Amino acid sequence: MGLTRRDAIKAGATAAVAAPMVSKSGEAAETKPPAAASRPDAKVRETLLLDFDWHFHFGHAADPAKDFGFGADLDTFAKAGSGVTSAADPDLKLADWKALNLPHDWVVELPFVPSANPPPEPAEDVRAYHGFKPVGRQFPETSIGWYRKSFELPKSDLGKRLVLQFDGVFRAATVILNGYVVGSNASGYRSFTLDVTDFANYGGKNVLVLRVDASLGEGWFYEGAGIYRHVWLHKLAPLHIAPWGVWAKSSLSGNSAAVTLATDLVNDGPATKARIVSTITGPDGRVVTTLKSPELTLHAGEKRTVSQFVSMPQPKLWSPEDPALYHLRTEIEMKGKVIDDQITSFGVRSIRFDAEKGFFLNGKPVKIKGTCNHQDHAGVGSAIPDSLLDWRIQKLKEFGSNAYRSSHNPATPELLDACDRLGMLVMAETRRMSSDEESLADLAAMIRRDRNHPSIIMWSIGNEEPQQTTERGARIAFTMKEVCNALDPTRPITAAMNGVASWGKGICAALDVMGANYHIENLPEFHQRMPQKPLIGSETASTVSTRGVYVRDPKSGYCVAYDTEFPSWASSAETWMRAAMTHSYISGGFVWTGFDYRGEPTPFNRWPNVSSQFGILDTCGFAKDNTYYYKAWWGSEAVLHLFPHWNWTVGQKVNVWCHSNLDMVELFLNGTSLGQRKVEPLKHVEWDVVFAPGKLEARGYKNGQLVLTAVRETAGAPAQIRLSCDRQALKGDRADAAMVAVEILDAQGRLVPDANNLVRFKVEGAGAVIGVGNGDPRSHEADKADSRAAFNGLCAAVVQAGVAAGALRIEASSPGLQSASLSLNVQPVPPRPSL
Ligand code: GAL
Repeated sequence: MGLTRRDAIKAGATAAVAAPMVSKSGEAAETKPPAAASRPDAKVRETLLLDFDWHFHFGHAADPAKDFGFGADLDTFAKAGSGVTSAADPDLKLADWKALNLPHDWVVELPFVPSANPPPEPAEDVRAYHGFKPVGRQFPETSIGWYRKSFELPKSDLGKRLVLQFDGVFRAATVILNGYVVGSNASGYRSFTLDVTDFANYGGKNVLVLRVDASLGEGWFYEGAGIYRHVWLHKLAPLHIAPWGVWAKSSLSGNSAAVTLATDLVNDGPATKARIVSTITGPDGRVVTTLKSPELTLHAGEKRTVSQFVSMPQPKLWSPEDPALYHLRTEIEMKGKVIDDQITSFGVRSIRFDAEKGFFLNGKPVKIKGTCNHQDHAGVGSAIPDSLLDWRIQKLKEFGSNAYRSSHNPATPELLDACDRLGMLVMAETRRMSSDEESLADLAAMIRRDRNHPSIIMWSIGNEEPQQTTERGARIAFTMKEVCNALDPTRPITAAMNGVASWGKGICAALDVMGANYHIENLPEFHQRMPQKPLIGSETASTVSTRGVYVRDPKSGYCVAYDTEFPSWASSAETWMRAAMTHSYISGGFVWTGFDYRGEPTPFNRWPNVSSQFGILDTCGFAKDNTYYYKAWWGSEAVLHLFPHWNWTVGQKVNVWCHSNLDMVELFLNGTSLGQRKVEPLKHVEWDVVFAPGKLEARGYKNGQLVLTAVRETAGAPAQIRLSCDRQALKGDRADAAMVAVEILDAQGRLVPDANNLVRFKVEGAGAVIGVGNGDPRSHEADKADSRAAFNGLCAAVVQAGVAAGALRIEASSPGLQSASLSLNVQPVPPRPSL
């Protein structure tokens, strides 16, 4: 019996599971999967990436004639397989469709639309929260996206099960294969699968069409729209491992790990006999154990979970410092042949929250030094290439962060893979705090998909919900907790509660860890009131700052980059850190935010401001000055960061700061000492200096020894461009991408701190610029362009590799400036199995 559409949707709600399904072949070297079994292989499973060669066209939310006839008549769903939409017509001419590859976010491509409010403009505009893009019900012509892809399937696929997997489509997707509506999915953040076996054309062309409707949003921040995560096609034997059907649950006791393996089998074929063979390979690549289940008899249509157990003495533990991963190869063996297999990575570590002593990882106290982040990046919006997700995690780690809150929705699977691999603790969050069937299904789908990730240390069931203090809210929270505990009893649940008066009330009773948003000054009182309740700062600090701006001018829409400005509910970084790092009962927390993101341009929530300013890093990942504050007190290296720049008017009084973790800093202007400052723990040092051009120098001492010096020199006019990239090579897989940074320098090679020159990018060779940015929270320039103005001396391009191997040369030029170029080596890699 086939997995029906209903089953597939239901399975998302109730079945069990694990990490990203399967061997994504290109990653084999990175994930060190165990070698294939030596038993004969009749393996059917093939996992093909469906990211390439799509076509896109806008539909219309209000006019069926402009929406490929979708809903033109009342009989849209009258007959299966016909009459749904002309977009599914196999012979449709695609001349006015746009060719593209996934991941894709169409909102990032749209122009900004100023507020429609007549003057005087309100102090706040709700459209500011989404970044002033024309998406939503007021914009029917840019809120429906049609995607279409044709692919061939060989005749030999007949008899296999074919399952499509969508990792994320924003939102309300209707999926149509060969004219049949094969499924739909509302949530923009849930991964889902659809069994399409019955609808495929075997030995011929298949037309896959998605109608994606972003008329309704799910958040109060920029969300993007479209197929912004990967799409896969799995070809499976009738008896196969269910989607996300492997769970390696480990628990640590003394020096030994108890690992329970649960494998969900689906038998869509006739009754048969089979066994499960599970091989675990350690972080060192050596086989730890092979477990063989007894032979099982599976009836036609049966779904069954097979459990296996192993005790692993002296396991290598996973931690942010040493993210050791085990790999599990799960095989279904039938008549001595392997007919299905899948690789799942997992880690062994223990986690515990203590109300008095905070968070413990592997028995040791670990302060959670986290940031909250939305999935949004300069140039690409929510459609972030996997390698850029990795890069973002690395950027956060560079300043000592060890934790990531995926606010306020389930993350892209590859982001969680990056956290596992690079060592980053994760607070995973569902989007909607409700116990209606669909919301619980979304929650369950997240846990089933993600529970193998050692990086995830807690499940968050909600954020700042109006119902948080009510009895009904508590009922909802307890129902959600039951779902969490049933699918994963190993992790605590939390929720982010706002407003001091709410803490401890309503939903708090259901939480294993109380998540407090902001209001740091009230944490001691809460702890006294509820000394048994573990506590974490689910959203904290939240300095608003604009990179490179040091003079406050509200009319400009920019904030200063000192750690001095924050919304009324929030605090500076220093205030947060002095509380969090010194009270053991605060497990740590998540600064709002790691990266700037589109929308919520607080404190200037109105046109023309379009991006947030909460980030420690800007939208491109360029460091703001506070980056070095966190690096000083979260990281392990000596830090001495001197700011602001040294281009002012003669005689102007300038507030000079240093973020440093050394003992003492002495400041010099053109060789004359301006005094020494003792560095107090978790604080900056500062001087008021009357500007004179030249050289400002800070010297940092530890135990009386000079350890670091930092210099700011008065820069001259823009004269040249410098290009840099933290990678030298890209994989030639049509997906790998890197951030290329541009600096505008004077003739002596000094950054020009207010340079705004327009920089044009030209790429030769195997690749292209797929987006540009500059971190300016009020820039209305296009992200999809080959040029960008610098903002305070910097801008960036996201460069993606094609397939042809060889040099990828990026040139950046600007009128009147000496241009620069950079070459990345595009390396040949075996093509990823794709359709
Ligand atoms: C919080 C909210 C976040 C973000 C932030 C801005 O209340 O949970 O999503 O909106 O405020 O300050």
